[in-house]
Amino acid sequence: MSNTPPAPASLASEHVDLQPRNVSFGWQDTPLHWLPHDPFAGHMINVLHLLLPAGERWFVHVYKQVLPHIRDERLRADVVGFIGQEAMHAAAHDDVLPHLKRLGLDPTPYTAQVDWLFEKLLGDRTLPPGRARHWWLMERVAMIAAIEHYTAFLGDWVLNAGELDRRGADPTMLDLLRWHGAEEVEHRSVAFDLFLHVDGNYGRRVRTWGTAFCALVFLWQRGVRFFMENDPQLVDGKASFGQFLRAGRQGVLPSAGAMARSIPTYLSRTYHPSQEGSTAQAAAYLAASPGANGGVRP
Ligand SMILES: [Fe+2]
Ligand SMILES: [Fe+2]
Repeated sequence: MSNTPPAPASLASEHVDLQPRNVSFGWQDTPLHWLPHDPFAGHMINVLHLLLPAGERWFVHVYKQVLPHIRDERLRADVVGFIGQEAMHAAAHDDVLPHLKRLGLDPTPYTAQVDWLFEKLLGDRTLPPGRARHWWLMERVAMIAAIEHYTAFLGDWVLNAGELDRRGADPTMLDLLRWHGAEEVEHRSVAFDLFLHVDGNYGRRVRTWGTAFCALVFLWQRGVRFFMENDPQLVDGKASFGQFLRAGRQGVLPSAGAMARSIPTYLSRTYHPSQEGSTAQAAAYLAASPGANGGVRP
């Protein structure tokens, strides 16, 4: 509770009241290969639909337990807004899964494993009230801050990934990704500020970043291999690290270099999420998003 640095004036003026937006996406016209001629990059992005519903519900579950530990009313309001936005994200990505199944790619075997990971391995466990339970809660709060570093990174990337437009990516999928990405940019400081407020221990920040990073790499490579190998439109579909490097160079995925540079950024003692991404760009996208405005397309 003692590690909250005062927000610099320039950051305080950037503060926005967070609120979930009702969204609506119609998937009937979205093809399985929504990024034409690049099933690998499309499936790398599709892994989000596998991980986020369970992952973001887990954020909500953990944060509801942290609310009684918050001693700052504005931060509490931010966390409540964050919870509302993440719950909406989880539901929106969940809605893509039945569509993938209709197109012949049943994600259930993979999502069952992800559900187990978040509900059991990262769940509450049967800890008695006291130090061990508090330690586990703080570990998870720190882990969420590390994951949110990456959701903000990806959000900023997708808002600026003009190559997806140039390749003719499906407009509904792009809108889902950019609406979500824009809200990730909008609330990018909340998880980190909450971690600083309730704990802020640097050793914990580093340790939980390592755990979160390894888990994300493991889950992502398994997820993309699952999609490539089970895609009914591919003959002998395979995923490889070389394809990842190629897609990054072409701008249809974040580049390996940008991802590598984001590591020391998060581990810097002077890091704050407000230093990256543009709140104004996120707000501009949200104001124009067809999905976030009732699903009415121009
Ligand atoms: Fe999210
Ligand atoms: Fe988020």
